[in-house]
Amino acid sequence: MKILFASSEMFPYAKSGGLADVAASLPKSLAEFVDISTLIPFYGFMKKEGLVLVFSDKINLGGVSYGLKFYKKDNTTTYFVQAPLLSDTQNLYADESGDYANNNLRFGVFCKAIVVLAKKLDVDILHLNDWHTALSSLYLKEKKSKIKTVLTIHNLAYQGIYSKSSLKKLSIDKKYFNVDGVEFYDKVNFLKAGIAYSDAITTVSPTYAKEILTQEFGCGLEGFLELHKDKLYGILNGIDKTLFNPKTDESLYKKYDYSSLDKKEENKKAFLKNSSLKNPKLPLFVMVTRLVEQKGIDLVIESLKKILSKELNLFVVGEGSAEFAVKLEKFSSKYENFEFTNIYNEELSHRIYAAADFLLMPSRFEPCGLSQMISMSYGTLPIVHEIGGLKDSVKDGVDGIIFKEESKKDLLRAVKRAIKLKKNSEKFDSMRITAMKKDLSFTKSTLKYIELYKKTLG
Ligand code: GLC
Repeated sequence: MKILFASSEMFPYAKSGGLADVAASLPKSLAEFVDISTLIPFYGFMKKEGLVLVFSDKINLGGVSYGLKFYKKDNTTTYFVQAPLLSDTQNLYADESGDYANNNLRFGVFCKAIVVLAKKLDVDILHLNDWHTALSSLYLKEKKSKIKTVLTIHNLAYQGIYSKSSLKKLSIDKKYFNVDGVEFYDKVNFLKAGIAYSDAITTVSPTYAKEILTQEFGCGLEGFLELHKDKLYGILNGIDKTLFNPKTDESLYKKYDYSSLDKKEENKKAFLKNSSLKNPKLPLFVMVTRLVEQKGIDLVIESLKKILSKELNLFVVGEGSAEFAVKLEKFSSKYENFEFTNIYNEELSHRIYAAADFLLMPSRFEPCGLSQMISMSYGTLPIVHEIGGLKDSVKDGVDGIIFKEESKKDLLRAVKRAIKLKKNSEKFDSMRITAMKKDLSFTKSTLKYIELYKKTLG
């Protein structure tokens, strides 16, 4: 079985969120069972070092011809496509002034390029991820190709919605512009096209697969998804245990595992020394997050005064909305048990997971979420809202703490539970050990994807 896995981001080459991690770890795990290649855009900030040109081609989009160059990373099956517009930007999707205005064309070009490579490699299945790749299923349909498509939705909140005038620019035949196809309130919706024309749709946790059929979580597509629910599956993400393992993690101050939790304490001490947090004896709560409403950062900000009045330290790291960052900075300068930094880097995040006692993750919705899994592997207990992948990956009172409602009251109650738990060192340690021993790898889910590929091929 031959697969092409296409994504707009992939760790370590280009990352804005969890999609990048999954686009790296899932194909790696799948490669044990199938012949799989991956494709991502070659963005303006990337270097050609270590890449070899495999072939060039041309596509036509809205009467404009675009030259494509397909590069491959030496000794791997990772492809990069360089194309006008797509590759001209210094970021993935946006700069300081917001989303790039031509993202419709940029990712339209990418979707065409994906089809070119899928055909060139003669794959059986094209595995698409999120809206940036979704139009490929329509382009394939148009060609009556025998290649089957699987679309994974990592986040339904991002759909790629553009004005009707994009139809022509994207060479989409008018016959697809209707309620059953790419049309969405008289606009062009990339993800909706993917839902309509893919042979199977997956999302990244079983609970989220159910949630997106409701008005609360469906982002306007709940009705349309309901029509297609026979081909909708929920498969829980995993993490790459070779990247997130405190026993082998080179970025830690001291490596450790579940039998040496005292060394985790040393990571905490070292981390606190380098921070502005004054009292090292307090339980350490952390958030490693994007500063967007999805993650419930606004709820935390609203509750911050009350949270910080408790016996705890809180450290928040995250990039995103400037508005949230400004508010967090204000608290940071005022409270000695709170620190915020918006300079995110991978290494720092590993040190934080190792140092912390609890990870706060009050997401409003969460297709899967990876931070809670990473934190568990580092013996840091996640405190999560009972939704989506959080509900599917954390067990209340066993390897984490779950709260029911996205409210200040429930959040605060969960924080208090955690403080109390920390005082009961026997229970606290046994929960940390359980969390660290949990199988959070991609192995189980990989088999589910393989099953789905087989089913899709018939
Ligand atoms: C998106 C979702 C997150 C998920 C990740 C990988 O970032 O918001 O919940 O874990 O994709 O699938």
